[in-house]
This record gives sequence, C-alpha cells and structure tokens, in this order.
Amino acid sequence: MSTLKLKHPDLDTNNLNFDTVEVHAGEPRDMYGALIPPIYQTSTFYFDSTDDAVRACDDYAESFAYSRITNPSQDYLEQKLAALEHGKGAVVYASGMGAVSGALFALLKNGDHAIFAKAKYSGTEDITSDWLPKFGIEHDTFDSSDLTEIEPLIKPNTKLIYIESPANPTMVLSDIEGVVKIAKKHGIKVFVDNTFATPFNTNPLDLGADVVIHSLTKYIGGHGDILGGAVISNDKEFLRECRLGTLMHFGSVIAPFNAFLATRGLKTLGVRMRQYNASALKIAQWLDANPKIEIVRYPMLESNPQYEIAKRQMRGGSGMLSFDVAGGLEAGKKFINNLKLCTLAVSLGDTETLVEQAAAMTHTMIPKEIREAAGITDGMIRMSVGLEDPDDIIADIKQALDKI
Ligand SMILES: Cc1ncc(COP(=O)(O)O)c(C=O)c1O
Repeated sequence: MSTLKLKHPDLDTNNLNFDTVEVHAGEPRDMYGALIPPIYQTSTFYFDSTDDAVRACDDYAESFAYSRITNPSQDYLEQKLAALEHGKGAVVYASGMGAVSGALFALLKNGDHAIFAKAKYSGTEDITSDWLPKFGIEHDTFDSSDLTEIEPLIKPNTKLIYIESPANPTMVLSDIEGVVKIAKKHGIKVFVDNTFATPFNTNPLDLGADVVIHSLTKYIGGHGDILGGAVISNDKEFLRECRLGTLMHFGSVIAPFNAFLATRGLKTLGVRMRQYNASALKIAQWLDANPKIEIVRYPMLESNPQYEIAKRQMRGGSGMLSFDVAGGLEAGKKFINNLKLCTLAVSLGDTETLVEQAAAMTHTMIPKEIREAAGITDGMIRMSVGLEDPDDIIADIKQALDKI
C-alpha cells in the first residue's frame, strides 16, 4: 500500500537505473515544497469527521490512522525498498530480526514444516531452533551449496524454504533460481535474506523468490546509527498479513526518525556498494595470495568453488568476506588484537571496517556442533570492509599478520 502523495506521480521507476531509483522512487509531495520531507514524528493522526475516521479505521493498512501500522516516514522508505527490489510493496520493521520473525510468523502456523539453510545469521538460527518448535512448527536444514539435499526433506506440510545468500558468516551462496525451481514444483514459498548482497548486487524476486528480507541496520542504513528491517514481496496479501498481523500485533515498529535515517542511507546505496564491492575484492585477492591465510571466502574470487553462481546472480561480491588465519583460533585472536585501523565489533555494512570472530561473537549462542555443520570454524574472521582506502586496510592487515 501507499497513501503517500508523490512529488512525481507519473514517474515510472521500472525504466530507470539503480542510482536514479534510489534517489527518486517514492519521493513525497510536501505541502510547503520542502525538498526533504519532514519526519512524521507522531503516534496518531487526526480526522475531520467521524465519517473520515470510520473510513480510515475500516482499513488500517490503506490509511494513516496509527503509527504502529502505517506512518508516512515508514511509507516513504517502503516505496524506495519495493522499487529497488522490484517488488509490489514492502513492510518495514524495527530491526532485521523484527523482519525475519515478522515474515516467518506471517506465513507459518502450527502443524507446518519449513526447510532452512544451515548457514545463516545466529538470530535466525535461534528463531528456528528455539522458537518455531514452541509454536508446533517443525523444520529441517540443508547445506545451501548442495541443492540435492532439499527434495528428500520436503514433506506434504512443507510451506517454506529459507535461505541467506551470501550467508552470514560463511559467505556460502545459494543458487536462488535452483532453489526456486525445486520449491515451485512442490508449491513451496522461498524467502531470501538479501542483507549481505543488498539489492544493488542481487534481486531475488527477479530470480523467482517470493519474499526478500533485509536488516536495514547494515548496508541500507549504511552508517551504523540505526536498527531497521524490511520484508519485500510481489504478494500483496502476504504483505497485508505482515502489516496487519505481525507488525501491528507484535509491535516491532521502526521509529519515524530511524525510518528517515534509513531512507537517507538508501539514497547513496549505489555509490557505496560500488566502492564496497571493489575494495572487498581487492582485499580478498590480497588475502588469497598470502601464505599466512588458510582460506578466504568471497563470492567474486575466481578460486571460490561457487564463482559461477556468483557471476550468474550477483553484480558484485558485496563488502563482506571471511577468512581463517593459519594457526587457527589463537592466531586469529592475535591477528585481531594487533589491528590498528580495523575495529573489533559485530554488525556490518558501516563506513568503517569491522572485524569479528564469528564463533566467539555473533554466532556464540549457536551450539558448536550446529556451527560446525554450518561451516563456521572456531578461527573464522568475518570482515565488513568499510569505505576507507583499501590500500590502508591492506596495510593494517599486513602489519597485524607480520606480528603473528
Ligand atoms: C543476514 C542477517 N539477517 C538479519 C540480521 C538481523 O538484523 P538486526 O540486527 O537488524 O536485527 C542480521 C544481523 O546481523 C544479519 O546479518
């Protein structure tokens, strides 16, 4: 839905390129002509008559009545996200996990079965292993680099296949078209968490996926100063279920100010992603040629066993990579402690380069055997390449490696 009055109502964003869409899609018409629309910092909306109020409250999703359901600042962001992901609509949430759980619980119900990729963000892992069973929803997992594992897991009550591509933190890709082909044969929905790729690099809906999920906290917000999440789809009924079901009733609503910051970040996503893609590739190639590094995982490396899939479904490899320092966990710790420019922190997609040890930080809540089955080694270092000059990042990595 959109109740926004647009600045350029006749602009067809379908014929425009990415950088033009991110700037112009969904731009609201302001009553005073403000180029940048105000932040609608309001919890409720007034009506001129009881008839108007009845009309608005008759369909909360198609009106502005209360900001737990719709707000012009959210709507503005949703228009841009839908345009960039080539979807018919979007629903934004307070965080990526709000969007993940909002989408899962909008689809799945007691008695359903779902299939999840093994490699995924730890919060999503916790939802699947700890929370779905509480609601009587069963699941199985598969190695997303091996699609032959999917069909034997399908049951008559399977409703969903859920993937992340590239996955956090292993960078393993799912062949999205391949997953969709299997799912469609059995009438199963496909959800893709596209946080690592971003819509600049991959558009899962164009590859046949039903739902795209984002943590806006990462590349889309882009500056490490907000939390946000989004669900994007061509299925308007599903989006209504998200808005009037999980958003409205679970209440994981993005604040208008955070929606404003996410929209501001989104307007520069293209220029930032070009730089992230180029810098991360340069750093991955440098690491790949270094004898002190055991393994580098980056989609666009020619040595990547999934390079063909990367070229087919990605425009660039993203700013994320992961690697193991020779010498394992202890060598990895020493390496990180000697970094001077790169910062030790969880999260990703920010202006500064962030590194973390996945097994000890973001993925520590996952039992070791599940981590290992997902390919997460104890020494794995995840790097979110920032917007610094890549030569300075490489120099920092080099001086830290020299101390091991
Ligand atoms: C792939 C992926 N999906 C979802 C999330 C959850 O996002 P948030 O932290 O905004 O809740 C994360 C967080 O790191 C993530 O990496």
